[in-house]
Amino acid sequence: MSSVVSGMNEADNTDPSERFLCLHEIVEAAEQALSENIWNYLRGATETETTMKRNRQALDSVAFRPRVLNDMREVAVGGRLLGKDLALPVLLAPVGSLESFEPGGGKTAMRAAAEFGNALMLSNVGSIPIEDVAAEADGMLISALYKRGDDGWLDEQVQRAKDAKCFAVSLTVDSAYYSRRERDIAARFVKPWRAGAGADWQAALNWKDVERFKERYDIPLILKGIATAEDAVMAVERGVDVVYVSNHGGRQLDHGRGSLDVLPEVVDAVAGRAEIVVDGSIQRGTDLVKAIALGANAVGMGRLFCCGLAAAGDAGVVRMLTLLRDEVRTAVALLGENSLSDVRASHVHPAAPVAGPDVFSAFPLIGAYPS
Ligand SMILES: Cc1cc2nc3c(=O)[nH]c(=O)nc-3n(C[C@H](O)[C@H](O)[C@H](O)COP(=O)(O)O)c2cc1C
Repeated sequence: MSSVVSGMNEADNTDPSERFLCLHEIVEAAEQALSENIWNYLRGATETETTMKRNRQALDSVAFRPRVLNDMREVAVGGRLLGKDLALPVLLAPVGSLESFEPGGGKTAMRAAAEFGNALMLSNVGSIPIEDVAAEADGMLISALYKRGDDGWLDEQVQRAKDAKCFAVSLTVDSAYYSRRERDIAARFVKPWRAGAGADWQAALNWKDVERFKERYDIPLILKGIATAEDAVMAVERGVDVVYVSNHGGRQLDHGRGSLDVLPEVVDAVAGRAEIVVDGSIQRGTDLVKAIALGANAVGMGRLFCCGLAAAGDAGVVRMLTLLRDEVRTAVALLGENSLSDVRASHVHPAAPVAGPDVFSAFPLIGAYPS
C-alpha cells in the first residue's frame, strides 16, 4: 500500500546483507518501495535526458589497461577529502527532500554515512533541520546549499553549518533556474518541497558571492556544478577548496557533456590547486575507479544512494556502500594495484560503449531474476 505523504510502500524487513547480493537488487527494491511519482522524480532528468545518458556513456567509453603479477592480497580502498579520511572516496551527494524516499530522510542517510565512514552532503531542500542531522554525523557532514536569501541569510546558514560541525559548505552553482523535468510535469506531479521561495537569490548567485564567502568564512568551500576548465580556473583563483564537476545528474541543463568527459580538462586546469570531486551516474565500483584514475579525489553518488535509502533505510545505504566497496576492491586488485590511490591514467584507455546508456543501464540484470 502506498502512502500519499511519503510515496513509500510497505517495508521488507529481511537483513539487507542477505536480501541484496548485487547492487541491481537494491535498485529493484527501491522501485518496488516507491510510488510511481517519486520513482520517476528520482530516476528522471531534464527534457530529452541526454545529459543524463551522456554521464553513463562517458563512463562506458573508458576501458581498463590492467597490470598483473603484483601480489594483490592487500588492497586499500579508502580515500581522503579536505583532510577527512573516508572508508571509500564517496560522498552521498546532496538530494532534496530525502524524506520522500524514507521518513527519516537526512537523519537516516547520515546514520548510514557515519556508520560506513563516508560523508553526507545535506541539501537545504528538506524538512529535517541540519541540527537534527548533525546529531548522527560523527564529523561526516557537509552543508550543501542553494542560495535562498540575502547575504545575511547565507551568514546564518554558514554559522549553522559550523555549529553543526560540518567540515565544508557546498554551494550548488548549476541551478540558476529550475529545469524542465518532463516526467514530473507530464504526470502533473507537483513536488510539495518545491515551493520556490527565494529562488531568485539562486539565479542572482555570481563570482562576487564566491569572493565574499572566501573573505568572510573560515570553512572550506565546495563549488558543485562546475562543467568547464574556464570556471574551474575562476574557482581556484578565488581560493575555492573543492571543484565539484557535475551536471546535476543530467537534471539541469540538457545536452551537456558527460561528467567523466569534463573531468580531464578540469584536472588540468586546477593543476593541484584544489581538490576535485565528480558525479554523474557513478553506480559501479569500476565507475569510481575510472574517476580516480582520471584525477578525481572522490566521487559523489545521488540516485543509487537514494535507492539504498528507499530499499532498506540506513541499512540499505550501508549495504549499497558495502557492495560498492567489494566491487572497487576487486577492480583495483585486477588492475594490479594494492591501493585505489595508485590507480592512474595509464590504467584506462578510450573504448566504444557496448550498450545504449540509460539511468540504470549499469545494471543489465534488472528484472532478469524477479524476486
Ligand atoms: C532526487 C534528486 C534530488 C537532488 N537534489 C539536489 C539538491 O538539492 N542539491 C544539489 O546540489 N543537487 C541535487 N541533486 C543532484 C545530485 O547532488 C547529484 O549531482 C546527482 O544526483 C549525481 O548523479 P547520479 O544521481 O547519477 O549519481 C539531486 C539529484 C536527485 C537524483
